[in-house]
Amino acid sequence: MFPEGPAPDPAGSHHERRIRSFQPRRSRVTTGQGEALRRLWPTWGLDIDGLSRLDLGELFGDPELPVVLEIGFGMGEATAQMAAADPGTGILACDVHTPGQGNLLNLAEQKGLNNVRVANGDAIILLREMLAPDALAGLRVYFPDPWPKKRHHKRRLIQPEFLALAATRLAPGAVLHCATDWEPYAEQMLEVLSASPDFENTQPDGGYAPRPDFRPLTRFEGQGLDKGHVVHDLLFRRRAA
Ligand SMILES: C[S@@+](CC[C@H](N)C(=O)[O-])C[C@H]1O[C@@H](n2cnc3c(N)ncnc32)[C@H](O)[C@@H]1O
Repeated sequence: MFPEGPAPDPAGSHHERRIRSFQPRRSRVTTGQGEALRRLWPTWGLDIDGLSRLDLGELFGDPELPVVLEIGFGMGEATAQMAAADPGTGILACDVHTPGQGNLLNLAEQKGLNNVRVANGDAIILLREMLAPDALAGLRVYFPDPWPKKRHHKRRLIQPEFLALAATRLAPGAVLHCATDWEPYAEQMLEVLSASPDFENTQPDGGYAPRPDFRPLTRFEGQGLDKGHVVHDLLFRRRAA
């Protein structure tokens, strides 16, 4: 669809045996998003093919820039706001959602953001195959798919196996920041993060964190609040090895 743009399934079949935390959805791409994907993908896009190790300094054009990974940026409005507010941090923004990738590229260009790169594909493959140990200065997972049905709980991203992988890619002291409006998922997040040997809660009382000023309202969060949901933030630090 976009000859120069994101690949439909960048990791292909060689990483097929994995649980997918994202919903398969048909994506209608607007003309503006399609145009951004064609024009800007070659410069700011990255296909998660699982084939090579990433040099984040090279990707962002600055070997000193601390880089935070955001998994599941959706339409990218909150990502663009955070990147604009903090030019001293690089955001590697990952999602499988093509319209959102186009939208974020457009926002990045309009706002002149040099500190955002858009990754297309499964974040698990990005973490496992393409990021070096201790490479990340932080990890953000805002409103991950809640998978409310019991038989789908295994598809939730935040679980022990994911945390063990994520911990190896975070630098010691780096913060994993999760937020959700789905109460049972918030409880699961608190439980598995508190039980993880790799993370410690930044909150002395061992509970949820107050929403930090730097996290803007996201699109999914707004929809959850409209339904009367309560939002929880969780801020856990990777322990020193
Ligand atoms: C419920 S949406 C939330 C989007 C945005 N953070 C917000 O709050 O508006 C979750 C997003 O995570 C993405 N996602 C889920 N699992 C993923 C994975 N393993 N790799 C990349 N993206 C993923 C989905 O495609 C979806 O866009």
